[in-house]
Amino acid sequence: MQISNVILLTLQILLVCSDHNLPSKSVKIDPNTVFVLFGTRHGNRNPGQYLPENPRTWGFEGFNELTSVGKRQSYGLGTELRKFIGNLTSNNYNASQVSYYSSSANRCQMTLQTVLAGLHPPETWGDWNTAVLDHWSPVPYSINDQLLRMYSVSECTQSNVVWKPIDNDQLPHLKQLLTEKRQLLNYFQANTGWNMSNLGNAADLADNLIEINLYNATLPAWITKPTINYTPQQIESEIMSFAEVHQIACADYAPCRNLMAGYWLTDILSKLHKASNNSDQKVAGYASHTEITLSVMKLLGITKDELTTSAGFVVELRKLPYPSIRLLNHDPNPIDSHVIYPATLVDALEARKDSNGFINLTVFENYVKPAEDYSNWKKACGIAAPTSSASSSFLKTAVLNATILSYVMGRR
Ligand SMILES: *[C@@H]1O[C@H](CO)[C@@H](O)[C@H](O)[C@H]1NC(C)=O
Ligand SMILES: *[C@@H]1O[C@H](CO)[C@@H](O)[C@H](O)[C@H]1NC(C)=O
Ligand SMILES: *[C@@H]1O[C@H](CO)[C@@H](O)[C@H](O)[C@H]1NC(C)=O
Ligand SMILES: *[C@@H]1O[C@H](CO)[C@@H](O)[C@H](O)[C@H]1NC(C)=O
Ligand SMILES: *[C@@H]1O[C@H](CO)[C@@H](O)[C@H](O)[C@H]1NC(C)=O
Ligand SMILES: *[C@@H]1O[C@H](CO)[C@@H](O)[C@H](O)[C@H]1NC(C)=O
Ligand SMILES: *[C@@H]1O[C@H](CO)[C@@H](O)[C@H](O)[C@H]1NC(C)=O
Repeated sequence: MQISNVILLTLQILLVCSDHNLPSKSVKIDPNTVFVLFGTRHGNRNPGQYLPENPRTWGFEGFNELTSVGKRQSYGLGTELRKFIGNLTSNNYNASQVSYYSSSANRCQMTLQTVLAGLHPPETWGDWNTAVLDHWSPVPYSINDQLLRMYSVSECTQSNVVWKPIDNDQLPHLKQLLTEKRQLLNYFQANTGWNMSNLGNAADLADNLIEINLYNATLPAWITKPTINYTPQQIESEIMSFAEVHQIACADYAPCRNLMAGYWLTDILSKLHKASNNSDQKVAGYASHTEITLSVMKLLGITKDELTTSAGFVVELRKLPYPSIRLLNHDPNPIDSHVIYPATLVDALEARKDSNGFINLTVFENYVKPAEDYSNWKKACGIAAPTSSASSSFLKTAVLNATILSYVMGRR
């Protein structure tokens, strides 16, 4: 292999898989685990806008849609989850034992569907078309944007408030990036024609680079032969540093983190509580977006700064020897194979792990219980019950707001 190929391959691996030190093997489920819950970011998707490339050899699914790589990552997650849970629930879908939830976004629904294809390959009485679809049977799920995509819940006006300093790059860290990286951003702007005063456009550039590398397409000459004082490798890694910059900013900013994921956190706690008491529930799973999945992971006490496509978390619940939970991460490595491994927790929880990595459920609940009551998402969203005379104009504004929101927020 030529040196240039080695560099290219290394770069590709770095670009696809931001976690460089993934364990090679998944942990085993605890013999006493009675319930498993997982959350995941959608798989690899197209950017919200394409760099001009003629002809383009990738991205035919459309803006923001799940790609073939995203499907492979999600299927890898599903098959790894099945290996992990073993016979906790049957391969065949059992309506009494499992529940699945997705954001309304196409990429999340398609991710969940592909995960479930890996997790629930039908057998015996579940088989129905072995000639064409031997390993696939439909599995239902609910779409719930209050849980998994609060930023596009049109009535949630508070969402506009918490996103404003992020969308406008007014948070100190984002402002600082705009100043510190001005020369580079100007270079990106001159070569893309995209307004780099908005870091969202730099993030779109990073998303294009990810796809170009994944699909072995040709990078633009302004990256491979830079006309500013950077090496091509430096340019690439500078561009990649803007990937998901707004989504990560949300997870780091308490008002955004809490509003995006507080309601999901209360749902997770309630499911764990129910399962610890008495319940047929064996598995619950959720598919969402970076800012929401990363936020809920932080609220659960997991130490994590970024989230690659199709990555997320797994929670195991034991009733014996005493009610306790274990927090795990899951990551693609980098496309078809997937790995489930112990999460690093905040110090307060890390100190409470037993020798198997489990934490007393009550201790955990007391630690993560939100200060504000997010189980009432309408209240958290600043929604007052509308008076009857105002309700028709409320509806009109809500429709207008939904249109604006879906335009502004479409990329997440
Ligand atoms: C599930 O697998 C475990 C471990 O292999 C085994 O002990 C148990 O009997 C199995 N349970 C069922 C219901 O098949
Ligand atoms: C770029 O965006 C900034 C901030 O949104 C705006 O003030 C500026 O006018 C835009 N520039 C161009 C050339 O559109
Ligand atoms: C890109 O090239 C690599 C290495 O040759 C290969 O493994 C991979 O499948 C290619 N990607 C696509 C989408 O064809
Ligand atoms: C536990 O289950 C019992 C019976 O199923 C029920 O009466 C009780 O309220 C439950 N407790 C909690 C804390 O959910
Ligand atoms: C489905 O789950 C219920 C509740 O746990 C259980 O009683 C039933 O046996 C399961 N059905 C099959 C076919 O495994
Ligand atoms: C779990 O934590 C609760 C609250 O601190 C405590 O009362 C209980 O004894 C603990 N259980 C075990 C088995 O340590
Ligand atoms: C629409 O958005 C505006 C500005 O964010 C907000 O003040 C208003 O309450 C929203 N109305 C509805 C019905 O969501």
